[in-house]
Amino acid sequence: MFGLYRSRNPEEAAINAARIHAACFPQAWDAAYFEKLLANPTTSIFFAREEGEDIALALFQKVTTEAEILTLCVLPRVQGEGIGSGLLWFAEKELEREGCSRFFLEVSAANIFARKLYNRLNYKEFSRRPRYYPDGSDAICMEK
Ligand SMILES: CC(C)(COP(=O)(O)OP(=O)(O)OC[C@H]1O[C@@H](n2cnc3c(N)ncnc32)[C@H](O)[C@@H]1OP(=O)(O)O)[C@@H](O)C(=O)NCCC(=O)NCCS
Repeated sequence: MFGLYRSRNPEEAAINAARIHAACFPQAWDAAYFEKLLANPTTSIFFAREEGEDIALALFQKVTTEAEILTLCVLPRVQGEGIGSGLLWFAEKELEREGCSRFFLEVSAANIFARKLYNRLNYKEFSRRPRYYPDGSDAICMEK
């Protein structure tokens, strides 16, 4: 069973976020980079935690009533268990309470699991950047 929370401790959050990000992406963001992002008051970070360990993160940047998902990732050993969907839903609710009414993101056309998740949470495609990613895949811009 996992719990969901928002971190208000940028140093601890940066270390845990970098560990999760490194397990999910070949070009990972390090703790110093997360710390730099989290020093900006427009960013918000949310985690899923299980048995005292952070296992997933969602990072947002807010501008007035809009929030961009900068990254969403779940440790590979617990992917496909609904944690990513649950975490995104929880974060959206928190940010809605603070006045956010539009959410947007970019996802690779090749990232089938992420696209399933965003579709299930009612994100809709509004534009594409052709061959945006190094593997030649398009970036799909989605909003809700
Ligand atoms: C994309 C990601 C965040 C999804 O989180 P998750 O907790 O695995 O997602 P969920 O369990 O909520 O499921 C999302 C969908 O993908 C499917 N899925 C996700 N991971 C899966 C896996 N390893 N095996 C089979 N299906 C999987 C789920 O079945 C679900 O599909 P459904 O809606 O048809 O049932 C996670 O896989 C991840 O961290 N991937 C690497 C980082 C990444 O690509 N982030 C997104 C960048 S935009």
